[in-house]
Amino acid sequence: MCGIIGIVGNAPVADRLVDGLKRMEYRGYDSSGVCTIVDGQFVRRRAEGKLANLLEVLSEQPATGTVGIAHTRWATHGAPTTSNAHPHATEEVALVHNGIIENYKALREELAGENRKYESETDTEVVAHLISSGIEKGLDPREAVGNVLPKLRGAFSLAIAFRSHPDLLVGARLGSPLVVGYGDGEMYLGSDALALAPLTQRIAYLEEGDWVVITRDGAEVFNSRNEPVAREIQSSGASAAAVEKGNYRHFMQKEIFEQPTVVAQTLGSYLRQSDHTVALPQLDFDISKIKRLTIVACGTSYYAGMVAKYWFEQFARVPVDIDVASEFRYRDPVLEDGGLALFISQSGETADTLAALRHCKAEGQTIGVVVNVPTSTMAREADLLLPSHAGPEIGVASTKAFTCQLAVLAALAAHMAVKKGLMNREEEAEVVKHLLEAPAALNAALNHDDNIASMAHLISPARDVLYLGRGQDYPLALEGALKLKEISYIHAEGYASGEMKHGPIALIDDDVPVVVIAPSGPLFEKTVSNMEEVRARGGQVVLISDAEGIKQAGEGCIATIEMPVVHPLIAPLVYAIPVQLLAYHVAVVKGTDVDQPRNLAKSVTVE
Ligand code: AGP
Repeated sequence: MCGIIGIVGNAPVADRLVDGLKRMEYRGYDSSGVCTIVDGQFVRRRAEGKLANLLEVLSEQPATGTVGIAHTRWATHGAPTTSNAHPHATEEVALVHNGIIENYKALREELAGENRKYESETDTEVVAHLISSGIEKGLDPREAVGNVLPKLRGAFSLAIAFRSHPDLLVGARLGSPLVVGYGDGEMYLGSDALALAPLTQRIAYLEEGDWVVITRDGAEVFNSRNEPVAREIQSSGASAAAVEKGNYRHFMQKEIFEQPTVVAQTLGSYLRQSDHTVALPQLDFDISKIKRLTIVACGTSYYAGMVAKYWFEQFARVPVDIDVASEFRYRDPVLEDGGLALFISQSGETADTLAALRHCKAEGQTIGVVVNVPTSTMAREADLLLPSHAGPEIGVASTKAFTCQLAVLAALAAHMAVKKGLMNREEEAEVVKHLLEAPAALNAALNHDDNIASMAHLISPARDVLYLGRGQDYPLALEGALKLKEISYIHAEGYASGEMKHGPIALIDDDVPVVVIAPSGPLFEKTVSNMEEVRARGGQVVLISDAEGIKQAGEGCIATIEMPVVHPLIAPLVYAIPVQLLAYHVAVVKGTDVDQPRNLAKSVTVE
């Protein structure tokens, strides 16, 4: 996901623009650039790779000027080269873009008669030419932009500078977020409030189709029909500190260790400790009448939904369909009237999940979202907003957001069961009591960090790793495999333990570590049998269980990770810790970029 920042300032802006880009590095990128206006001319500096390369260019060729835009690019159209890096510019217009202009080829055709020279392979550059064409014909920036925006298909957030109008910037959003920051005699544009945190806490969130003109005097916002509209100025609460690592080596490490605190915060928002009841925000629909639940998400958020399916079906006896968003939206799903569609997303901006949400909304489903950004697009389009209070998650690999999502989902499942008369007061109190045990159990699990770090060398040389789990631990196997592959680049697969004998066991030999997630309990024996089948074929087993489980089945494993004894309800939260730490330490051993793994973005706002 690209990052955008723009400043109409009273002092030189280049350093502050790059500082804003630094706060968006977590989004993932592979090139960057800055453009300011000096004496009526654009001063543009761009570089491939990390921001350090852009800083080097700027140190050799400074960009002065008090108005400018900047960008971190996650390549979609065109390789991550300097010529494809944003800002893209013509003589009159410079701009940066997050999203995809799907009809860019047709738009280039539209300008063919003007014999324009393109310097890049990107979809973005044509937008600069379209606006520039209007300016060159005598239109002012408002008119030129107002004419072009309706022609764009796809998703975009834009920040646009005009050589001949150095006291304003224009921003626009459709499908990718953009915020307006209010300073003292300065104004800002940013992809999110975090990017602007050190500059201002006073933020207005543009709505779909909005565009805005910012000058030192303030902002004029227009909707998609070019009508002036007002967008509320809020306090973002985003602190610059939220994007600092503190004493940790990586954001991911910090966020793994924040989980006891943020899970406690999240539970505290949904449970009443005084009388051990579930206390959800007032719903404006009768959840007891929901006949079917559809859960849609991507990646780690999807695995949280897979765990929740067990809870909704066990507690609330409501049938649950669950699907990854990219598949759901194209399979013409059968949606039951009066159904609840639940979307789980850390960012609240994932394009596939957002598109699925809009499909379900159009089909008349009640829309619920579990998101970590309460000002996100999904949050604003839902009927029921259930925030996960994990705080800003910077590491591309999702960790604390996952366990906070589980906390919210468990509370919602219990709430639905209570409202359907399927969970009495005593049972509800029991569930709440066990959920409130989670933060302490997470702390206990984190105490095994050194032990897990010491076993990373068992995994780091592997080319393939398998993760096994049964029941609600099966999604944990999938999550553990995803964590390992996305930050250590080792191929890993998660499997239902019982499925091993139906094919994957052919993979087993003494070069394939197999991580088995198996708290002692009703399914433990069956998982141990699967583990024995693996070991009998030379499989190198790492067993994650509690003391009882390790006592029963730990012998012969290449390593064991002992978890505290926990109630099955919170096992998925607690067993997330070892799979996160294992992936983290293996990645550290391998020397990969833990917080910004290659090819990945924190939030995938393109299809
Ligand atoms: C998880 O570690 C990955 N970064 C990725 O799978 C992520 O969970 C997925 O892209 C969904 O993102 P979202 O939760 O912001 O929608």
